[in-house]
Amino acid sequence: YNRQPIVAIDGPAGAGKSTVARRVAQSLGLMHLDTGAMYRAVTWRVMEAGIDLDNESAIAELVSQSQIYLTNEPQAESALTPQDSLPLRYRVWIDGEDVTQVIRSQEVTGNVSAIAAQPAVRRELVKQQQQWGCQGGIVVEGRDIGTHVFPDAELKIFLTASVQERARRRQQDLKDQELPIVSLEQLEQDIQQRDIRDSTRALAPLRKATDAIEVVTDGLSITDVTEHIVNLYRTLQAIPLSLEV
Ligand code: CDP
Ligand code: CDP
Repeated sequence: YNRQPIVAIDGPAGAGKSTVARRVAQSLGLMHLDTGAMYRAVTWRVMEAGIDLDNESAIAELVSQSQIYLTNEPQAESALTPQDSLPLRYRVWIDGEDVTQVIRSQEVTGNVSAIAAQPAVRRELVKQQQQWGCQGGIVVEGRDIGTHVFPDAELKIFLTASVQERARRRQQDLKDQELPIVSLEQLEQDIQQRDIRDSTRALAPLRKATDAIEVVTDGLSITDVTEHIVNLYRTLQAIPLSLEV
């Protein structure tokens, strides 16, 4: 049956998935789904409820009862910053609470991989992702989108950068948001630990799909990467047309 195309963007922490996925979606007029935000929202909810991270059955129950919403809201002109000049702002809600900011905290970041490795959590969130994306016309980013959530996606991108580059970007994010600065050594260590956890877990680990196009982003600007992916998408769209002629 005829659904719209799906763009899957996977890769490790700080590769630029969220930033680039939003821009690609906006440029192509597609929707955008940040699956990492869903794992982060659940992690925040578990911590808020005071549930132990290894209490898998209590976490499974909480997840099955939680409502996650991802919304795109127009931004006021005055709120636009040079780093974030897109007219739409992504917001994340769980059980009626706006958690857009809090899910980016060091505490949530430190715990999210442990929660995301739990089978019941993945089963529930993957089901929601597949429901939201089943009509296509969407850019979906995460760790297992091209390998597991949408293995039939029309375009699969594996976005990477060196650990040093990704740590530098994270530190710049902290500076831009006027948050306490964390050393590059610490950030590199955190990123490496999360890379290892995400790529060695039993269920749907972070892996490049065999048919994904790898894009190494060291030294490239956000605009460079966005344009590259948009061009790949347009090329792909052009193929069936040229065959019809
Ligand atoms: O933005 P950042 O790359 O730091 O992480 P994220 O994309 O927000 O994802 C946070 C965490 O959620 C990852 O480290 C993974 O443990 C988990 N995740 C996952 O397991 N599967 C996905 N499809 C997306 C995220
Ligand atoms: O979602 P993921 O963890 O892969 O990355 P992100 O949350 O989008 O963060 C990437 C950070 O690197 C953002 O601060 C971007 O402004 C910056 N950046 C980028 O995304 N792409 C580049 N080519 C250069 C910088």
